[in-house]
Amino acid sequence: MSYRKLVSITDLSTDDLHTLLDLSEWFMPQVEEGGFKLDTLRGTSCILLFHEASTRTRASFEVAGKMLGSDTINMGSSGSSSEKGESLKDTALTLNAMDHNVVVLRHASADGIQIFANYFERGLLNAGSGLGQHPTQALLDALTLRRSGLLERGKRVAIVGDLRHSRVMRSNLQLWSSLGMDTVLVAPPQLMPDGWEGLRPEYWAEDATGYGSVSWDTDIDRVLPDVDAVMMLRMQRERMDGGYLTNSDEYSKLYGLFGHRLKKLPASAIIMHPGPVNRGIEISETAFLDPRCRITEQVTWGVASRCALLCWSCGRIPEMYSQTRV
Ligand code: NCD
Repeated sequence: MSYRKLVSITDLSTDDLHTLLDLSEWFMPQVEEGGFKLDTLRGTSCILLFHEASTRTRASFEVAGKMLGSDTINMGSSGSSSEKGESLKDTALTLNAMDHNVVVLRHASADGIQIFANYFERGLLNAGSGLGQHPTQALLDALTLRRSGLLERGKRVAIVGDLRHSRVMRSNLQLWSSLGMDTVLVAPPQLMPDGWEGLRPEYWAEDATGYGSVSWDTDIDRVLPDVDAVMMLRMQRERMDGGYLTNSDEYSKLYGLFGHRLKKLPASAIIMHPGPVNRGIEISETAFLDPRCRITEQVTWGVASRCALLCWSCGRIPEMYSQTRV
């Protein structure tokens, strides 16, 4: 087996990205119908090592692993030896010594995933690393955009809300700009990352020629009429130690996707949200029920993209899929 690691979204070449998206599309009808079982990953074991809370990311990896025939094992920080002070390095070495095939890791520190990657020799998927990266979320968001014909050069996506604490924004913005798409960050100054200009591709891409732009606006009403998609974000109160906390009512009034703002969003645009959603704060019930809303689809399609990622990280492709490609 040739194993692969996904630490940051920038680890994926354009070819990798399209391979993963095509494979995710192939899984889609099976996931939507439900109940399928393949033996692509039979004989492998997949450890879901989650040191932070998660519902959809963890559940989608678990469902995907089981659908593919992998023995899927859930491990949180509580109940594992990390509670006894074991380092990530030692956890990686331990799981390596047991010959597990793939680890899906969520960790509170941005560099935990790289430490793990240095010592674990098989497949590894980053399921969210502190304020750093969330590449598997970016992949399912890319799938959502592609299915609406929006994963294209020149398209413009707004990300609105708590950008200071958003690893989803970091991974998405890098993927979109590498494809020539433009990103508008929409947030009040206290919810912007310090030194946000460093998010511009000229600061992190080896060669930013042909990359899309990254800009910042504090006014959602000015931005909405001119976007192809809008991604709303949750206020990550668990990461705020007081200073950045914004009053929810005031925030909703200034930035929430509510009735009057829905009218400003073009008819062809889509609404996304990585979840968990705080209905009534960053997005209204009406927005959730709007035909442009893709939030529920993102969750379903997340399972398809995690099926693709598990296969990719283990270096195994479903036989039926290979047959459709010859
Ligand atoms: C996001 C995360 O954990 O970074 N959620 C997710 O994975 N679906 C965003 C969030 O927690 O608000």
